[in-house]
Amino acid sequence: MIEFKDVTKSFTSGIVKTDVLKGLNFRIDKGEFVAIMATSGTGKTTLLNILGCLMKASSGSYLFEGRDIETLNDDQLSEIRNKKMGFVFQSFNLLEKTSAIDNVLLPLVYSDVYPSDAEQKAAKLLESVGLKDRINYKPGELSGGQQQRVAIARALINDPAFILADEPTGNLDAVSAKEIMGIFKSLHSQGKTIIVVTHDINIARQAARIIFLKDGKVEKEEVLK
Ligand SMILES: Nc1ncnc2c1ncn2[C@@H]1O[C@H](COP(=O)(O)OP(=O)(O)O)[C@@H](O)[C@H]1O
Ligand SMILES: [Mg+2]
Repeated sequence: MIEFKDVTKSFTSGIVKTDVLKGLNFRIDKGEFVAIMATSGTGKTTLLNILGCLMKASSGSYLFEGRDIETLNDDQLSEIRNKKMGFVFQSFNLLEKTSAIDNVLLPLVYSDVYPSDAEQKAAKLLESVGLKDRINYKPGELSGGQQQRVAIARALINDPAFILADEPTGNLDAVSAKEIMGIFKSLHSQGKTIIVVTHDINIARQAARIIFLKDGKVEKEEVLK
């Protein structure tokens, strides 16, 4: 479970201080499919960075599975990141000269354990996102939608409970966007917790609940299904 209590985030550059998040309160339970919706430049990526333990809040508290993130050291934070969370980005963030399967294996290369069945697992994940016949293709040889599916397979390689996606369909045409959201829906039905941040209400509406942000705060929440 994720709980934010009065979370704020400010950035200071020179003498200018920008208050981006101004006291966020919300809760996301395990197994939910939530969209966090706000217009551009309002702090969605900042919020996702905090949720993903990549950045700390300026004040307030973030409880992840009952643990106060503020009290954890860097090793504990990276353990949460690596074992519990999978990240999906707008620009896919794949290594260009590396095949789809090796991109999917990348998180394991950086972790302390490399399971003997890693390649099989990566191939299976690529198959599950419809890329069975593309596992040796490089990102440049794949469409945007296919690249994002590789990125989703990569996010799943460590069996994370949480998938955090930052505008995952922002670089995609409508058809590919729908396919990507379909994959998230199916992951949700398999028990994953999915958190998608977006500025696009049509994308947000495909989640089961929407948290709307405005002016650094939660404006309202809407339960859809
Ligand atoms: N590292 C940073 N240093 C200074 N300002 C930042 C930093 N990251 C984000 N900001 C500012 O915070 C605001 C929100 O940015 P961001 O979270 O990227 O919004 P969004 O993802 O909703 O477009 C912007 O005004 C941006 O300039
Ligand atoms: Mg952003």
